[in-house]
Amino acid sequence: MAALKEKRSCGQRCEDFGRFVWNSDNGTLMGRTPEKWVYISLYYVAFYVVMTALFSLAIWTLMYTLDPYAPDYQDRLKSPGVMVWPDTYLEEKVQIAYNTSNKESWMKMAKILTKFLQPYNETNQLEYNNYTCTKGKYFFQNFTPTSHHIKRACPFTQSMLGHCSGLEDPTFGYNCSMPCVIIKMNRIIGFLPTNHTDSPPYVNCTVLDGHENVEKMEYFPNKGIMDLSYFPYYGKLAQPTYVNPLVAVRFSLVKEKSAKIQCRVVSDKISYENFYDPFEGKVIFELKALK
Ligand SMILES: *[C@@H]1O[C@H](CO)[C@@H](O)[C@H](O)[C@H]1NC(C)=O
Ligand SMILES: *[C@@H]1O[C@H](CO)[C@@H](O)[C@H](O)[C@H]1NC(C)=O
Ligand SMILES: *[C@@H]1O[C@H](CO)[C@@H](O)[C@H](O)[C@H]1NC(C)=O
Ligand SMILES: *[C@@H]1O[C@H](CO)[C@@H](O)[C@H](O)[C@H]1NC(C)=O
Ligand SMILES: *[C@@H]1O[C@H](CO)[C@@H](O)[C@H](O)[C@H]1NC(C)=O
Ligand SMILES: *[C@@H]1O[C@H](CO)[C@@H](O)[C@H](O)[C@H]1NC(C)=O
Repeated sequence: MAALKEKRSCGQRCEDFGRFVWNSDNGTLMGRTPEKWVYISLYYVAFYVVMTALFSLAIWTLMYTLDPYAPDYQDRLKSPGVMVWPDTYLEEKVQIAYNTSNKESWMKMAKILTKFLQPYNETNQLEYNNYTCTKGKYFFQNFTPTSHHIKRACPFTQSMLGHCSGLEDPTFGYNCSMPCVIIKMNRIIGFLPTNHTDSPPYVNCTVLDGHENVEKMEYFPNKGIMDLSYFPYYGKLAQPTYVNPLVAVRFSLVKEKSAKIQCRVVSDKISYENFYDPFEGKVIFELKALK
């Protein structure tokens, strides 16, 4: 059997390859005329220019629609939750129980409140939120390039909580039967609690159980109002020094000194009857002063 392929020497191969690179007979470079090569190059240049343009356009559009100071992923939450301090939970219930004749017991409650109020102390608020807000109005702020997108926040100082500020009585009433609790509403970016600016949200506590044991409830600030100037909240990056407005309630307990309380933040856009979220718009807790 004769080999079908004729054997060629290395010299011949090199010659073939040389002819492929530059064929002087028909003037082609790697099998194509220089003119064709120019067209091919032009085609690829145009191709990559278009691809680059498309890619840049896509990136630009993405960056343009992304505001780095607004979280691109926000909670679907519509109505805020409400919390109470001292936050002493007992199996999913909040139970604020303390012993007036046991210093360790009531100091524990006072310590929780003191710690919670630390960001609200005069020094901190003067340093971070040294700004006078117009009360009774939403504090809308626009982006301005010079502000680096950082927005102001209204100060809320401990002293606004009057007898529950911990300033005049560092025990917050836990050394006797007049304990203070602090109500806080969770933040929702952009949330406006009411459509009617003449009626701001306020805290209303009601006794669910043990009416006869609660003689009096006092609200601080006056009427338990959360001023509108603390809304809307713009987010952690945009408004790093924001503090939630607070409402403190002082209960005067008598007789058995035990009651089940519900505190609700009342406002037309705050719902509180969500079966799946018992903390939406309200908080329920047991208050118990032992002896
Ligand atoms: C309250 O504290 C006092 C003093 O420590 C103690 O004698 C008393 O038993 C405590 N009361 C209750 C109900 O735990
Ligand atoms: C406020 O808190 C800071 C620590 O966060 C503390 O150094 C300062 O003394 C406090 N100011 C007042 C008036 O309590
Ligand atoms: C707060 O602002 C006032 C007036 O703008 C200024 O005099 C004061 O020094 C500021 N306080 C702090 C702690 O920055
Ligand atoms: C509780 O503490 C306050 C402030 O320290 C004090 O004025 C008050 O007399 C105390 N009450 C009792 C019952 O010890
Ligand atoms: C609040 O105002 C918005 C638009 O202005 C309206 O769609 C909404 O129904 C109002 N809500 C209430 C509770 O009045
Ligand atoms: C607080 O809530 C109770 C019970 O829902 C209601 O009877 C009372 O009128 C409310 N008070 C205010 C000031 O809204």
